[in-house]
Amino acid sequence: MGKKLFINNEYNSFKKTISIDGDKSISIRTLLLGSQAFGKTTIENILLSEDILHSINCLKKLGIDITLKKKRCFIYGRGLNGFRYKKNIVLNAGNSGTFARLILGLLVKSPHYIKLIGDKSLSKRDFERVISPLQKIGANFRVNEQKTLPLQIIGSPFTNPIQYFESRGSAQCKSTVMLAALNSPGQTIIKAKKSRDHTENIFKHLGVPIIVKKNKLNDVIKIKGQKFFKAFNYKVPSDPSSCAFFIVLTLLSKNCELKIKNVNVNQSRVGYIKVLNKMGAKIKVKNIRTKYGEKQADIYVKSQSTLKKINCPPSLNSNLIDEFLIIFLAAAKANGVSSFSNLGELNKKESPRLKLGSKLLNQLGIKTKLTKDSIKIFGDPTIILKKTINIKNYYKDHRIFMTAVVAAFTFGGKWKIDDIGSYKSSFPSFLNIMKNLGCKFKLVK
Ligand code: S3P
Repeated sequence: MGKKLFINNEYNSFKKTISIDGDKSISIRTLLLGSQAFGKTTIENILLSEDILHSINCLKKLGIDITLKKKRCFIYGRGLNGFRYKKNIVLNAGNSGTFARLILGLLVKSPHYIKLIGDKSLSKRDFERVISPLQKIGANFRVNEQKTLPLQIIGSPFTNPIQYFESRGSAQCKSTVMLAALNSPGQTIIKAKKSRDHTENIFKHLGVPIIVKKNKLNDVIKIKGQKFFKAFNYKVPSDPSSCAFFIVLTLLSKNCELKIKNVNVNQSRVGYIKVLNKMGAKIKVKNIRTKYGEKQADIYVKSQSTLKKINCPPSLNSNLIDEFLIIFLAAAKANGVSSFSNLGELNKKESPRLKLGSKLLNQLGIKTKLTKDSIKIFGDPTIILKKTINIKNYYKDHRIFMTAVVAAFTFGGKWKIDDIGSYKSSFPSFLNIMKNLGCKFKLVK
């Protein structure tokens, strides 16, 4: 904690094969569902990041035995609603919006008040989006007027199946209601704007009766309340959101080639590959196979000396919601003016990401035109920085840190980046992989 990263744009061209840490969304979902299954669930290649360690600690506080052996996690579930805990427990979700929201879906029958807290960044984020449907299901909340953490939830023995319209394209909201539906008798019906569908896929893998009708803009999901589902085995693929940093690093560097193995290439996650290929990149997704209901593949990418501007279709937004910052960086080196719209949700992430993304590009000397939900980026393919860039005060947003590091190696200049350990919340191997690729940096206390 409290270190500074000094980067002087030194690296040699690389031609390498790398492995990336396990997928964060899937790691959290398999933990939550393992805690509700009956028997011993084994999750291999689980992401060992701070978000996941916070999730494990919270589930342990709820009385679930969990052990870790390197990247293998064993969960001893007692079945649905099989939590056992004392009164007045406090769950600390750290920086994890996904865990904090999804766990509430599993507490709709809690007999005691449970307090949920998080770090400074998570405590600024909106919980109204999950409180409102969970209230309809039967849960009660003690929460401040802004509907932010800390909050307390108490459940009800009489939960209702609801009809819910998820209009933001938020997989967290959709999944929270899906988890609560397991504990509601009768049929819950969710109409959801398109978003990542890992919860649906895992439900299917577990044999939980679920009907999903995919339409062009919305999916309709029907779930029947459950009594029981069995423990399971799962091997988590690599996180495509973490891969994105190395894909853009390779594209914007000179004479580099990279292969990334066993990546989750679920269509709802790899919108950024579509966008980069539309910009002229030639990223190849090969050897596609389906495992545990999810598509996995190996990704190949080479440096690309010229990228074209992009007018990003808003229909793709939820498929690249976590990759906008790194895509903005690619757009900053592209030929022409790129535009991105309907991005209000981006300011509701770990930081006001749309605003801070624009600020980062401005620090590089790239012109942007920003509104509250859109950005235009005036790309400059010839840009080579000579100045010193200082990156600080970024709300502990892991994706801002990692984007800044990629910028430091691809735009030139001298960089001083405050390292507050933010990347450890989602991608603890990030700096080690950078080092293995030959990217040189100095960490100073
Ligand atoms: C996630 C959903 C997305 C994403 C987050 C992980 C998930 O959030 O930004 O990093 O695992 O469900 P929203 O559902 O709020 O868009």
